[in-house]
Amino acid sequence: MSDGPRVRAMAAADLDAVSRLAGFLVRLHHAFDPQRFLHLRSPESGYARYFASVLDDPEVVLLVAEDDGGAVVGYAYARLEPRSYDELREACGKLHDVYVDDRVRGRGLGEALVREAVARPAARGAPRVLLLTAVQNEQAQRLFARLGFRTTMLEMTRES
Ligand SMILES: CC(C)(COP(=O)(O)OP(=O)(O)OC[C@H]1O[C@@H](n2cnc3c(N)ncnc32)[C@H](O)[C@@H]1OP(=O)(O)O)[C@@H](O)C(=O)NCCC(=O)NCCS
Repeated sequence: MSDGPRVRAMAAADLDAVSRLAGFLVRLHHAFDPQRFLHLRSPESGYARYFASVLDDPEVVLLVAEDDGGAVVGYAYARLEPRSYDELREACGKLHDVYVDDRVRGRGLGEALVREAVARPAARGAPRVLLLTAVQNEQAQRLFARLGFRTTMLEMTRES
């Protein structure tokens, strides 16, 4: 019997693989709307540095998913956020990134990553987890809705 997708805490040795996936996430969003989303020439090095700096931060959730051979093929990044008057919300968890290598999608890795990424803030007392998702990203939205996320805000952008 299969044990199902393996999701575990990110370690320093994962940073090369994770930052490569993060680079795909950045480019995917830039392609959705080049004016709204950042264009970074090489996002990988910045992500590797940032994730390395928060690997041991208890407010940050960094997870990886492995394929059957133990290769890192997905990651998730969430963090605990304080109450925000700007956003009119209490302290919460925020799920910032989830990415699964396109060669291994549709096998439940995304679901396993999101389930764990929302369970950890909840275990630390966060009453809820929020996320933002690009309107074009219907595949991700289906996953989030299936896992209990409801639509609560709509971001609108106008060029100056
Ligand atoms: C969104 C994303 C993380 C989902 O990852 P994934 O590993 O494919 O997710 P899952 O396998 O859990 O679910 C994907 C689909 O496979 C299906 N599935 C899951 N396990 C399955 C299995 N064992 N057999 C058949 N289908 C399965 C799910 O029902 C789901 O179907 P749906 O798209 O019709 O709802 C992935 O598509 C991705 O990385 N996209 C680019 C990055 C991105 O958009 N991130 C979110 C930014 S907000």
